[in-house]
Amino acid sequence: MQIIVKENYDRMSKLAAEMIADLVRKKPRCVLGLATGSTPLGTYRELIRMHHEEELDFSQVATFNLDEYIGLPPTHEQSYMYFMCRNFFDHINIHPANVHVPSGITEEVPSYCEWYEKEIKEVGGIDLQLLGIGANGHIGFNEPGSSLGSRTRLKMLDEKTVKDNARFFSRLEDVPHFAITMGIATITETRQLLMQANGENKAGAIARSVEGPITAMCPASIVQMHPQVTIIVDRAAAKKLTRRYPSEPPPLTPGK
Ligand code: GLP
Repeated sequence: MQIIVKENYDRMSKLAAEMIADLVRKKPRCVLGLATGSTPLGTYRELIRMHHEEELDFSQVATFNLDEYIGLPPTHEQSYMYFMCRNFFDHINIHPANVHVPSGITEEVPSYCEWYEKEIKEVGGIDLQLLGIGANGHIGFNEPGSSLGSRTRLKMLDEKTVKDNARFFSRLEDVPHFAITMGIATITETRQLLMQANGENKAGAIARSVEGPITAMCPASIVQMHPQVTIIVDRAAAKKLTRRYPSEPPPLTPGK
């Protein structure tokens, strides 16, 4: 597990974007797992800049998003499909047919979830999964208590998550209480995990995930089991970590 502590949100976002861009350049047909929330916005902005200024090419890239609120059509401003289009897809040259965000309006949730899993397998699996983290330790919408072996399915949101996400809606009553989310096993099957966290309200969740026990009560702690994980945090989110961590990825060949 590689934990990298950057000075601020901008540096955190730039490093994450560089890692993603690196993969896209090396493997133009790569499969990216993407996340929503305020955390990855800076990363998406930087990738958009690279697309415009450095010809970063997404034409063959496929993407799978982690989750979607139940009940929100893709045209709803708070749906994750809408979020992804506004903040990323509309600004790069990705092929719409290569974009996958779970549907929040499917009437057949279990078979839809099976289909989503099958689609991931059919493209050869996800190369890199970008992750944020909830203040309660959730990843995607896998709330505390989620099975560590779970697959894509319907989940009820924690009261804390509903309150945390209410800032994006005009009224607390408008926040959906259910979502479709990739499961924890779906997430850990990806070849590489890239988690980001910024701000003091994530410090507890980061400390529990990185230095605490692996437990379903802190779903993000499953990252400890994955062979290829990078966690990039800003100083505020690193506040409760007790061990020493670098501010740069280690050099490939150790210096003298
Ligand atoms: C939502 C998403 C998660 C995200 C989390 C954190 O609940 N389902 O994927 O990581 O919010 O959001 P933020 O980055 O806004 O703190």
